[in-house]
Amino acid sequence: MSQSPHPFHLISLSILLLSTISSSQAKVDTFTYVNQGEFGPYVTEYGADYRILPIGNVPFEMAFYNTTPGAFYLALRMGTTRSESVFRWVWEANRGRPVGENATFSLLPDGNLVLADADHRNVWSTGTANKGVVGLKVLPTGNIILYDSKDRTIWQSFDHPTDTLLVGQSLDYNKGPKKLVSRRSVTDGSYGIYSLVFRPGGLILFMNGYLPYYDYSVNGILSFSGNPILLEAEPETDEDAFAFAYEVRFASAGQGTTILTRPKYNATLSFLRLDIDGNLVVYTYYDPVDYRAWEKTFALFSDQIGLLPGCALPSKCSKFGVCQDEMCVACPSPVGLLGWSNGCVPPQVKGCNNNGKGQTEDYYKIVGVENFVSTYTKGEGKVKMEECRRKCTMDCKCVGFLYREKEGKCWLANFLGTLSKVDESSHVVYVKYLKN
Ligand SMILES: *[C@@H]1O[C@H](CO)[C@@H](O)[C@H](O)[C@H]1NC(C)=O
Ligand SMILES: *[C@@H]1O[C@H](CO)[C@@H](O)[C@H](O)[C@H]1NC(C)=O
Repeated sequence: MSQSPHPFHLISLSILLLSTISSSQAKVDTFTYVNQGEFGPYVTEYGADYRILPIGNVPFEMAFYNTTPGAFYLALRMGTTRSESVFRWVWEANRGRPVGENATFSLLPDGNLVLADADHRNVWSTGTANKGVVGLKVLPTGNIILYDSKDRTIWQSFDHPTDTLLVGQSLDYNKGPKKLVSRRSVTDGSYGIYSLVFRPGGLILFMNGYLPYYDYSVNGILSFSGNPILLEAEPETDEDAFAFAYEVRFASAGQGTTILTRPKYNATLSFLRLDIDGNLVVYTYYDPVDYRAWEKTFALFSDQIGLLPGCALPSKCSKFGVCQDEMCVACPSPVGLLGWSNGCVPPQVKGCNNNGKGQTEDYYKIVGVENFVSTYTKGEGKVKMEECRRKCTMDCKCVGFLYREKEGKCWLANFLGTLSKVDESSHVVYVKYLKN
């Protein structure tokens, strides 16, 4: 097992080492670590507390971390203490199923890697018992692997991404991992509402599992060939030593590459993440600097470093709002546009639960706005506004509709979220609300 040195860490975790010799199998390099003791002193993402484990490969280290007392995740951390930058969590084993104090993380004599609560209940395991596993190591890429006596990989963390794809890791439609799912919130690491899914047709971003808000194939970037899509970081020129820029990109055999970002330094230590707010971002770690080693080098929805305007992100204005130049400029209401605040929410509607008994539904109109619904769903052509409205009224899931007055195009919306200001004033949105 490769272990990273810990010159800057006070490891106060109690470590219980079991050694077992099995006569029938190759000797397994077993271990058991108990989740107890002091927390580490450095700043990590999500304001988490952590207990580092002596398993890693610089700049990656395994750890137990928690953002809520008593709810721990076994995870992989990225960063070093040298640059005084935040450590980021790039993988976790027991997503959405936290363990408590005194939980144990063990490589058992049968080769199974197991995370168990203090009461010995297994919470997570790799299912690798009796498959010839002899040890665990973390590769320089951040891939945690279980290997056999011939150094073949029996299990790898790269096949089980959470919200993050490290350089060298891929999505594989045919046999590998097919998606990333965002984290629910800063304090809640369970599955959130956004997903990046690799499926026939290509890479697509979904909200709530069915509402597309970005589609790499619609945007003509990556078409589907059935081959895995790999995240890679390569120097721009063949001669590494003279490269002045690196490309962080998606690559797919036979399909070429799609460059996400081109930092002007060695960007090998980058990762792609589907962030809590649904944005797809790249963070790049450059250890040689003394300060702020992390840079957000790409964000899909960003006026500065993205492919799409910041206002196209469904959650840009939190639950509801009108967005212009990456700023939330108004909160729509039946009496017109009001000032925006974080408390701006879409109006109550009858919905499928028939809320607001005795009240009738009406619509108010916002001129010169649209959202992702008209970009990624087909809608209906040559429909009168009244017909579009009637359809929305009949549909209990419809909270409003997008309408293009010149073309008579109609889209019913189950979600409005952030409405982007557009130059074309005939692009309008009608918002359903309960009239008193
Ligand atoms: C964890 O185990 C230690 C003994 O090793 C015990 O003193 C402590 O109370 C336990 N903590 C919890 C929260 O169960
Ligand atoms: C770029 O960084 C990686 C990771 O730190 C390192 O392994 C590699 O040697 C670096 N390349 C060059 C040309 O310095």
